[in-house]
Amino acid sequence: MDRVSKMVGQVAARLRENPRVTVFTGAGMSAASGVPTFRGGGGLWEGYRIEDVATPEAFERDPELVWRFYDERRQNLLKCRPNEGHGVLAEWSRRYPGFSVLTQNVDGLHEAAGTVNVTRLHGCLWDFACAAGCARSPRRWRNTEVPLAKVPPPCPHCGGMARPDIVWFGEALDPENWAVATGATRCDLFFAIGTSAVVQPAASLINMALRQGAFAVEINPDQTPATAAVDVALGLPVEEALRRIEDEVGRAPGLSHDSSCPSF
Ligand code: OAD
Repeated sequence: MDRVSKMVGQVAARLRENPRVTVFTGAGMSAASGVPTFRGGGGLWEGYRIEDVATPEAFERDPELVWRFYDERRQNLLKCRPNEGHGVLAEWSRRYPGFSVLTQNVDGLHEAAGTVNVTRLHGCLWDFACAAGCARSPRRWRNTEVPLAKVPPPCPHCGGMARPDIVWFGEALDPENWAVATGATRCDLFFAIGTSAVVQPAASLINMALRQGAFAVEINPDQTPATAAVDVALGLPVEEALRRIEDEVGRAPGLSHDSSCPSF
């Protein structure tokens, strides 16, 4: 049996014990759905790094540029569907008690796949907030207009500008979401999937889970700062890795492909 198949078998064996599972996801989770990652393949948008269009300073300097970036991402997202990896996690969310997904993704594809118990750490592309935080507006509201008729779009409550309800670099995460996320690191099996594990504080969830005794699995074709720390690093695309793990979970325990037992 090759090394990867052994690792798949090891993870599947843990899943058969009906563990408490927490899955931490990043942009690679949705790569097979056609959602571009941030740091792969140059990672630039019109010559800008994500860090330069996703900050409060960038919004103050050039709100139209920032909104064009998000409008384009929303247009692209309309063409995207959850992939096989999202599907497996949706199934796990119904199967394993205490299961949760902590996602950095703003694409809503976990929810679209039917996953239960998703915490969105970085917000959602379909939610807006008042840029000035006007007293009449709710904390956030849904807007599905694609493409946006007006860029930047107005806050319907005060006539000022709306902003994407996304956590930008330099902004704090929602404290309630963060409390849920840190609580979920107390689990038996922790997966870090499709994340470069460089954006804090989200990336610190991996070490938090390890410190609390979770068995940690990374799924990413590339190495990350977390690779050396986790118990199993599966260097495969998530859609392939989760399908293989799920197939293995479904097999009768104790049987292996290279069994030397004669067949009946
Ligand atoms: P990145 O773009 O930094 O990293 C994506 C990771 O996915 C990389 O490590 C890739 O190797 C990996 N990857 C690519 N295809 C994959 C596949 N098919 N299966 C598994 N892994 C694959 O994205 P994030 O780590 O999510 O913040 O970035 C974190 C945050 O930085 C984002 O939430 C975003 C960004 O700025 C905000 O928008 C607030």
